[in-house]
Amino acid sequence: MNAVPSNFKNQTKNERLIQWVDEIARLTQPKAIHWCDGSQKEYDTLAAELVKGGTFLKLNQEKRPNSYLARSDPRDVARVEGRTFICCLNRNDAGATNNWEDPAKMKETLTGLFSGCMRGRTMYVIPFSMGPLGSSIAHIGVEISDSAYVATNMRIMTRMGQGALDVLGERGEFVPCLHSVGKPLAEGEKDVPWPCNPENVYIAHFPEERAIWSFGSGYGGNALLGKKCFALRIASVMARDQGWLAEHMLILGAESPEGERTYVGAAFPSACGKTNFAMLVPPKGFEGWKIRTIGDDIAWIKPAKDGKLRAINPEAGFFGVAPGTSEETNPNAMATLHANCIYTNVALTDDGDVWWEGMTKDPPKHVIDWQGRDWTPETKTPAAHPNARFTAPASQCPSIDPAWEDPAGVPIAAFIFGGRMSKTMPLVFQAFNWAHGVYCAATMGSEKTAAAAGQADVRRDPMAMLPFCGYNMADYFTHWLNIGRNVPNPPRIFRVNWFRKDADGKFMWPGFGENMRVLKWVLDRCHGRGFAVESPVGWMPRHDSLNWEGLDYPAERFYELMKVDRAEGTLEANDHESLFDKFFDRLPKEFTFEREMLKSRLWRSPKVWELAHDEDF
Ligand code: OXD
Ligand code: MN
Repeated sequence: MNAVPSNFKNQTKNERLIQWVDEIARLTQPKAIHWCDGSQKEYDTLAAELVKGGTFLKLNQEKRPNSYLARSDPRDVARVEGRTFICCLNRNDAGATNNWEDPAKMKETLTGLFSGCMRGRTMYVIPFSMGPLGSSIAHIGVEISDSAYVATNMRIMTRMGQGALDVLGERGEFVPCLHSVGKPLAEGEKDVPWPCNPENVYIAHFPEERAIWSFGSGYGGNALLGKKCFALRIASVMARDQGWLAEHMLILGAESPEGERTYVGAAFPSACGKTNFAMLVPPKGFEGWKIRTIGDDIAWIKPAKDGKLRAINPEAGFFGVAPGTSEETNPNAMATLHANCIYTNVALTDDGDVWWEGMTKDPPKHVIDWQGRDWTPETKTPAAHPNARFTAPASQCPSIDPAWEDPAGVPIAAFIFGGRMSKTMPLVFQAFNWAHGVYCAATMGSEKTAAAAGQADVRRDPMAMLPFCGYNMADYFTHWLNIGRNVPNPPRIFRVNWFRKDADGKFMWPGFGENMRVLKWVLDRCHGRGFAVESPVGWMPRHDSLNWEGLDYPAERFYELMKVDRAEGTLEANDHESLFDKFFDRLPKEFTFEREMLKSRLWRSPKVWELAHDEDF
């Protein structure tokens, strides 16, 4: 050990960890080392220090007990995909959809940047478990960070502290996650509320070594390394090697009035309502149904001895996008936020509460915006940053499932995949079989924003994993195909699209709670009950296969919503090829055949394929 003051008192006997902490302290030269125990007392002390330093602002304790607001540097407000690197030995192992750098070269660059980068700061050693402590589906990580903001957020987002060290034990494996805001303090230099180094951001992953080095940003997924960096990019590599799945998926459990419980995993690209779907409130017509939340962003899924795929939510909190969250869109999320949360880049009301666009019908007359400036409804810029976040304990969610911390995980009966598509894609269909389902998931597309010319710009986002797969996505497709082959009764696979528009540009489907009607059909299909018609794209429900009680949605409109247009469908299928071209020789052969079969099904069907209106046949 070197001479840096430290609170280390044999909290762990894990030699590899002790050595790594020592090595990083020598490299980064902090003024002190703090091993986090994860206690409330420690959290409160860190929060008080953050308040003193101006990073945290304590909110009105009556309205938001034990909650804080942080405002970031305006140059550090989101994940930076352009600065995210997969550093494996062979460039082809990262694949065309990832930024690649040679690991030795990246280490050289980063070692230079990390040298002395924690001067004047405390180095926090943050042990954490992704998943319930001791679960065989969970894994341990240790983040070293020079940010107390990171330490406090990690306590909400993971099982952080001594418990994780105890699970790690003397010889346990952990993923080393090294983080620095990249702003050392000179002797006597005053700190800023949000230190960062936007000119030198690197979010680097070393899959062979299973290590993460992140420099220069203090925000979200760039800094809370348990989330996207570990639980998706590094974990996807572990999952490939060990035969399981690390996915960008929510997990929800549905309980019928008869008490039948079914769990599904669902993948949607960012900003397509994953948190809302995970916390769905069943609408009128579904009395006695309960939808419960296991997770809203990430699922780790392992084949279990009972032949099922069992899933856990590796996280312990929600790092949700605040704007748009309201009592109407997500009452469960709003209730989760009643206390013990950290808000980043939302607006501050005059009575010390938080506000963001979409939270209330009418905006407050005056707030302080995310950059600390006066804001009124006349102000041209938004009060909360569009990527403003809440960090909230999952245990506070009223819809949290009683099994959410079950170390054995929950059995997954279905996977649902959905993007944002204003045309072409029907509301829902079921894949014909596992391989077809993997194809449907891999070719998932989502519109960015409508371009000026009115042309929708579709970004292919396979399994919603485009920015999160830690290896070549073609190998990831093959891995998915293999997973289904190795379990006796793999989950059913569905595609949904809540975002189709009519000729007037209006959304055809009301969404939110009404998605329950689609989910119920999915559950019926899983249990061998739901009626389905074979269409060119997959199995589809007819109008009378869905429960319409409480919603007036005429059959005519439903069939419009489910229509498959041959020309549009063929354009879509052809566009899959531009995705496939990227993967070249590693693309699973199955995909080429699936695409040809899709095209021939489309060509052999009428110009516009419609579900039979005659519901008696
Ligand atoms: C997230 C994301 O923050 O997907 O969950 O970007
Ligand atoms: Mn996400």
